[in-house]
Amino acid sequence: MAHHPPLHFSMSKLLVLHGPNLNLLGAREPAHYGTVQLDDINRHLGAVAKSHKVTIECRQSNAEHEIVEWIQHAGSEGIDFIIINPAAFTHTSVAIRDALAAVAIPFIEVHLSNVHRRENFRHHSYVSDIAEGVITGLGAQGYEFAVLGAIKYLSTHE
Ligand code: DQA
Repeated sequence: MAHHPPLHFSMSKLLVLHGPNLNLLGAREPAHYGTVQLDDINRHLGAVAKSHKVTIECRQSNAEHEIVEWIQHAGSEGIDFIIINPAAFTHTSVAIRDALAAVAIPFIEVHLSNVHRRENFRHHSYVSDIAEGVITGLGAQGYEFAVLGAIKYLSTHE
């Protein structure tokens, strides 16, 4: 029997967005955030993605408007799944929530620290209720779990 390759095969594309102050990882409050640096996390996620044959792009910004624009553009860039640690904007940003809702790209919310074990103002997230899932408190590994979760999600949804 002839082998027919899928007609529209293309690699899934993941976008990882890191919010404000995450550029300081490694040096910043290591008791909460660990000693690993953002570049190390991104490099590791690149390797995980490669081994699963998906593409991944990681970006960090301290500016809310830039994160909003990246989310808006994700639709036209053909991003299939977003992994986002909105950092402090988690607790403040209706704009980031609205952007995620507008593009309707499935996403997982990640926090390095367990936000529920910290101050009350960190207990509320503007994005959790529209996320596919939330990973909080597992450190840098949480991002890896999110990437694996995204890959699983994409393999079972269309
Ligand atoms: C964080 C938790 C937030 O409350 C905080 O503002 C951050 C990082 C985390 O990854 O644990 O900047 O999102």
